[in-house]
Amino acid sequence: MTDRAFPPKKRVGILISGGGSNMAALIAAARSPDYPAEIVRVISNKPAAQGLEKARAAGVATAVVDHRSFATREDFDRAVHADLIAAGVEIVCMAGFMRIVSPWFAGQWRDRMLNIHPALLPSYTGLHTHARALRDGVKIHGCTVHVVRVELDVGPIIMQAAVPVLDDDTEATLAARVLTQEHRIYPAALALVASGRAKVVARPDGGEMVRVAGASETAAALVVPMNRN
Ligand code: GRF
Repeated sequence: MTDRAFPPKKRVGILISGGGSNMAALIAAARSPDYPAEIVRVISNKPAAQGLEKARAAGVATAVVDHRSFATREDFDRAVHADLIAAGVEIVCMAGFMRIVSPWFAGQWRDRMLNIHPALLPSYTGLHTHARALRDGVKIHGCTVHVVRVELDVGPIIMQAAVPVLDDDTEATLAARVLTQEHRIYPAALALVASGRAKVVARPDGGEMVRVAGASETAAALVVPMNRN
């Protein structure tokens, strides 16, 4: 019985600031023997982030780099960078990381740093995405995993999931529906990047996109409300 030869797993560092549910989803996915990445480091800018305890319980090495200890954004980023490099990290996943990265840091990890945003980018960049979507009366909302660029919540899109918005939704019910999909697409998107199947390419129209090698399944169209007449 010959072992299937797997390429070495990409070493991943996760940046958090809070509960870390997306971090937990990535850690859980990486437990699979044929997952193309291993989670080797979790760094929080907040000492009290509950995600740190989840990471430790899962046996993942953690660090706190408290942004309040640094004079400038870049000084903080350089400290985070040094910790990532020391851990041999090759791909960075921001997961509920409530910091705007410096141009220097975004440059160091160009095309190797991902983020999860709770909206269908480029719609609803920034904060309070669910409340804004409800206020606008949209019928379809969702989440996006994208490659990080300097500009906030902008960058080549790797994967998105769409969910229906229901008439009686609250911010909490909509957020929960989106979060379920975040936990589904982040591990899937990281696997595409870690395996080399997803590549950022320049488009002839001047934009950027992420091309995924090989057939990628697509879901049927989401129509809301579904008018069954
Ligand atoms: C999620 O909606 C995520 O998209 C946003 O923060 C929320 C909590 O994330 N960035 P997590 O539970 O800390 O991963």
